[in-house]
Amino acid sequence: FVRALRSKGRKQLSPPGPWSFPIIGNLLQLGEHPYLTLMEMRKKYGDVFLLKLGMVPVLVVNGMEMVKQVLLKDGEHFAGRPNMHTFSFLAEGKSLSFSVNYGESWKLHKKIASKALRTLSNAEAKSSTCSCLLEEHVTEEVSELVTVFVELSSKNGGFDPRNAITCAVANVVCALCFGKRYDHSDEEFLKIVKTNDDLLKASSAANPADFIPCLRYLPLQIINAPREFYRALNGFIALHVQDHLATYDKDHIRDITDALINVCHNKYAATKTDTLNDSEIISTVNDLFGAGFETVSTCLYWSFLYLIHYPEIQAKIQEEIDGNIGLKPPRFEDRKILPYTEAFISEVFRHASFLPFTIPHCTTADTTLNGYFIPRKTCTFINMYQVNHDETIWDNPNLFRPDRFLNENRELNKSLVEKVLIFGMGIRKCLGEDVARNEIFIFITAVLQQLKLKKCPRAKLDLTPTYGLVMRPKPYQLEAERRSSGSSSAS
Ligand code: HEM
Repeated sequence: FVRALRSKGRKQLSPPGPWSFPIIGNLLQLGEHPYLTLMEMRKKYGDVFLLKLGMVPVLVVNGMEMVKQVLLKDGEHFAGRPNMHTFSFLAEGKSLSFSVNYGESWKLHKKIASKALRTLSNAEAKSSTCSCLLEEHVTEEVSELVTVFVELSSKNGGFDPRNAITCAVANVVCALCFGKRYDHSDEEFLKIVKTNDDLLKASSAANPADFIPCLRYLPLQIINAPREFYRALNGFIALHVQDHLATYDKDHIRDITDALINVCHNKYAATKTDTLNDSEIISTVNDLFGAGFETVSTCLYWSFLYLIHYPEIQAKIQEEIDGNIGLKPPRFEDRKILPYTEAFISEVFRHASFLPFTIPHCTTADTTLNGYFIPRKTCTFINMYQVNHDETIWDNPNLFRPDRFLNENRELNKSLVEKVLIFGMGIRKCLGEDVARNEIFIFITAVLQQLKLKKCPRAKLDLTPTYGLVMRPKPYQLEAERRSSGSSSAS
């Protein structure tokens, strides 16, 4: 393929790139931190280069302007998803996020899912003090999380917050998707949380069958494990969706599943044209469930690590909270009056770049980029980590410094915030950006309003990520104590 591409390049130039081995291509050169290796390669080959992962040619795109060219200006040509083994069994090709079928019905699918999320965001809260259902669910979960942190700390001193965070975020997702929350010790819930974790680990271990196609026919555990985990998750979700289909009431939208059923019914009633069938509704709930889970909990796991690593930054956020909202439970609208807290969250997104690449893209037609010929079906990696650490945009990119996002009046510099690339952009942009930003804000402010987080004495903290589709920090422990000036309840 590469030779064909390069020989075609005699007439139409193909992108430069490193020499590659037969079968394994450049896989071994990527090392433990591929996003850093690709940043190094950029110094030699420029913003657009081509390498081979196993037998698959992969176009790597770096630099804000080139990324905008690919995702915005030439978005239609780069809006597909590659045919990777790991993605192929996700909802049997019906997945909104991973399906290779890009076209009119995919566009309809994304429109319906985004309308359902909006419908839900506007759904009224059961309690009068919250602005919407989402805010209410997050507030409930963070209140439980604070209690769990205090209990763990008084029992064990230092503790790893990972599980408690995952359960809290999973509960927000369950409440959003199915209108139901679970006790942190509920067995069904813990099984699903674990299955989701296993699925992610199995999929992000750079499944060799994604890059060396003949391997996908071998009965190996690493190759087939994701399929088993996915089946278990899909079964759990299908049960909930079927229950919703049976009890749906258009005048009482309980959650995303109801909102999706509602949008589909309305669309069909109004136009008698295509909409989603029941199995597509199941797969959409599955997409939202999967996407809203690991991303947000990983972001919080990073955030608490930075907060104990930089206690002076934690103190500044607490000062801002105390001075502007006091003991009142934080609400989404408070984002406007806590610019330093918002700056901290943007700096976590930028510095950790815990999604170093977007989900892989794929060209939908022959196209050209930066003067190079790019054939249809070329797998494309967007290096968001590079954009977030580009010295031409960021002063001292390796420093963790929330203040970089504030202007001289201590207001948030919105145009700089928009330069942080973590949700992607254009046609394939993340559907849950608003949900995620609001949720993360409430989790961080409500925890810091009530608790002081500290690193354990003599513990060494490490900010180097473990590579994966979503990059986590290495496991760490913290101590949590109630603040005397903080509020005693977040609900
Ligand atoms: C896709 C980031 C939370 C739903 C994506 C993509 C990124 C991303 C980078 C891929 C964009 C691309 O391929 O170009 C994040 C981050 C989150 C987050 C950093 C949290 C901090 C959420 C939440 C939801 C969600 C809470 C849903 C409630 C989706 C969906 C897609 C997606 C459905 C697939 C879009 C498509 O293929 O067109 N997200 N996400 N995400 N995200 Fe998120």
